[in-house]
Amino acid sequence: MLIQDTVLINDWHPIARSADIVEGKPVAARLLGEDLVLWRSADGEIHAWRDLCIHRGAKLSLGKATKTTLACPYHGWVYDSEGRCIRFPAHPEQCPPAKAQAKVYQARERYNTIWVSLGEPECDIPVFPEWDDQRFKAVVCGPYKVQAGGPRLIENFLDVAHFPFVHQGSLGDLEHTALSDYQVDVTPDEIVANDICVWQPNPIGMGQGAYMHYIYKVLRPLTAYLAKQDEDNSGLALLFTITPVDIDHSLVWTYEATTTKDESDEEIIKFQEGILFEDIPVVESQRPELLPLDLQAELHLRSDRLSIAYRRWLREKGVTFGTA
Ligand code: FES
Ligand code: CO
Repeated sequence: MLIQDTVLINDWHPIARSADIVEGKPVAARLLGEDLVLWRSADGEIHAWRDLCIHRGAKLSLGKATKTTLACPYHGWVYDSEGRCIRFPAHPEQCPPAKAQAKVYQARERYNTIWVSLGEPECDIPVFPEWDDQRFKAVVCGPYKVQAGGPRLIENFLDVAHFPFVHQGSLGDLEHTALSDYQVDVTPDEIVANDICVWQPNPIGMGQGAYMHYIYKVLRPLTAYLAKQDEDNSGLALLFTITPVDIDHSLVWTYEATTTKDESDEEIIKFQEGILFEDIPVVESQRPELLPLDLQAELHLRSDRLSIAYRRWLREKGVTFGTA
């Protein structure tokens, strides 16, 4: 059942890696509680439909795709690439009526990923400028399944106070737990924290621990970004986005772009995966599962300024999915 959150219904969400949706092989997916079938026609177009045949409700993802059509596994109704039923095999002479039509959603490809909107998106797919910047190499990490809601996962991405405890030795260490203050700027379009300073025990290319300065942004209810720009113009940027599968199931995607050329794609993926796998047990343990938007519901410190801003911003936007 489609989860009724207007903001998220009208947003774009990553749903599958482009390479995983190939001609002739329909694939089932799930977004905001809605079962989808994804398939690729011979012209390369991606199709994202409700995974339901309008005849007797069988899953179209179990059916057969040809170059231009998808056929239901049950009684073989054939749908063209616009989702129109063009043939009833039991009555080949009969012309299917206009209402014999699959529910079609918008789908696009970007960042080697298929993005779907279940509504009428007002914004484009979140922008990740470093992806197309020749100075950077970019890698897709994910998707990873997590049994937690999207807002809890985004807030974890925005939270640096946990680094020394959860990511000891990689992103933080217990000798450096104190955080300096930072400013947060909020507009209807984004939240920006321009200078979050964290001690990192082993930053790439530094050879020793150092304070690193990050820009954090929240671009969408379920998409955040961070960047580190160094004086020599080298840098690192992450786009972190969550697929809201269900109220308590998510897919986590991290797009990393880096100017560092001495790490292979596999090493980058392994590092990001290691960090996420340290986060998962903690985020899955959080109660309530839904992110409380009532600021009285949990306790906050100065260093939680970014997550407080995120909670307020979600409330102002009217995001109800994954929140309480
Ligand atoms: Fe799909 Fe009958 S349920 S053709
Ligand atoms: Co973490």
